[in-house]
Amino acid sequence: SVTRHYTFNIDYLNVTRLCHTRSLLSVNGKFPGPRLVAREGDRVVIKVVNHVSNNVSIHWHGIRQLTSGWFDGPSYVTQCPIQTNQSFTYNFTITGQRGTLLWHAHISWLRATIYGPIIILPKRNDSYPFPKPHKEIPILFGEWFNTDPEAIISQALQNGAGPNVSDAYTINGLPGPLYNCSSKDTYRLKVRPGKTYLLRLINAALNDELFFSIANHTLTVVEADASYVKPFTAATLFISPGQTMNVLLKTKPFFPNATFLMTARPYFTGQGAIDNTTVAGILQYKHPSQPIKNLTLLPQPTLPPINATTFVANFSANFKSLANAKFPANVPQKVDKFFFFAVGLGTNPCPKNMTCQGPSNTTKFAASINNVSFALPSVALLQSYYFGRSNGVYKTDFPAKPLNPFNYTGTPPNNTNVSNDTKVVVLKFNTSVEIILQDTNILGAESHPLHLHGFNFFIVGQGFGNYDAKKDPANYNLVDPVERNTASVPSGGWIAIRFFADNPGVWFMHCHLDVHTSWGLRMAWQVQDGTGPNQKLQPPPSDLPQC
Ligand code: C2O
Repeated sequence: SVTRHYTFNIDYLNVTRLCHTRSLLSVNGKFPGPRLVAREGDRVVIKVVNHVSNNVSIHWHGIRQLTSGWFDGPSYVTQCPIQTNQSFTYNFTITGQRGTLLWHAHISWLRATIYGPIIILPKRNDSYPFPKPHKEIPILFGEWFNTDPEAIISQALQNGAGPNVSDAYTINGLPGPLYNCSSKDTYRLKVRPGKTYLLRLINAALNDELFFSIANHTLTVVEADASYVKPFTAATLFISPGQTMNVLLKTKPFFPNATFLMTARPYFTGQGAIDNTTVAGILQYKHPSQPIKNLTLLPQPTLPPINATTFVANFSANFKSLANAKFPANVPQKVDKFFFFAVGLGTNPCPKNMTCQGPSNTTKFAASINNVSFALPSVALLQSYYFGRSNGVYKTDFPAKPLNPFNYTGTPPNNTNVSNDTKVVVLKFNTSVEIILQDTNILGAESHPLHLHGFNFFIVGQGFGNYDAKKDPANYNLVDPVERNTASVPSGGWIAIRFFADNPGVWFMHCHLDVHTSWGLRMAWQVQDGTGPNQKLQPPPSDLPQC
């Protein structure tokens, strides 16, 4: 293994899409940002230099950061943000992971434009557990906003409204021919017949879970969130923000007499506005003479309807860990600590002397876990913990279950207000944890892609309605459940996840729809040091930013 050095310069970049030009924040003058490429076992050192007026931090989403929690990246959780004209050098080793992940800014909504792929190749002399692809191609889904996303979320948080939605979805930064003014901004995947391509799919969209399909082709899923899965083939994929997926595309054995559209558009069951438009790219067989006149007339895939909850549940149920001798699934078979988290929306009262535009004009939108709408502190949780200065910064009594249980998928309670607080759960090193993530109906059932930092978890069960502690555990898969860092709590349902808390530090968990994170659907785990040689959090780096 080797050490790979990168420099990420955060700077302004003028980008035009949909005939709107914006000065946006980007890394090294690229949008989407540069690829981070490494092999399993490598050390990666990235110097991030902030040349813009915003505070920034970068999260290496899905990287385990074993004992290196200082470099995880979420602002006010593991670090203070990097201020203007300051830099911070992230430094971590990639241990026991190979596949695709993503990096993104982790403060406010800056990840709308600051994001890029992480490509982890197997160790040298190691091979894939599937046929070697002819080529590997990153496909990043994103969202384009004609106006500044920072202005959108800060205004929404002030007046309590649901924020404006994006103006387009993108594939590798391009909206494609189904949008105004965008035919020239179309992503083209150029292929040869009879070959196998590995598509590294990344959903970096800010607020939307997406369906994806390529007309007249199927895709074989081989990896999810940098863990191998038992291969399965599907015509349409579902991918949540923060999730990644490696899929094999086998091209037709001959030059087909056509070029095909690949499209993505959202899945959504909540209330309020949504960008219900379609991004398209083209799959283009490199044929000597095949001019394409009108891109919008190309064969288009059929995608499920916007509220296709059953499709989503069935698709998610296809995922199983590869779980072979070389890549075993280390599923906790017994549980030391059990948590029941009711996740969903709620409200905050509108401040006096203000008119709010929330669910009513006396309330603002909020979101919570077990009625706690998590407030970020103004210093970082990890420093506070490490230096013994947690007093007044956070409390350690985050509720393990709802204080007042209710019928989560039935009629919601009358009082929808949640309490704002900064609370964590403290865990001993290597505790085996089970969490039931239960969607609630407060302000409507909605799917929540929950992301856990610092760990992968196994999804041992899922279902609709309320979780039933008497019946449901009997159906758990404790043999080969899928291992992920982000999983959707089904709209009107629940999932059960398990993991070993084998990584000391402070670890964020939140909905990866940024609007829900901003509203407080987030919390943190504080995992204590173990006693073994590789079980202690490293000392903090000398250039750790201060708040
Ligand atoms: Cu990809 Cu805390 O985020």
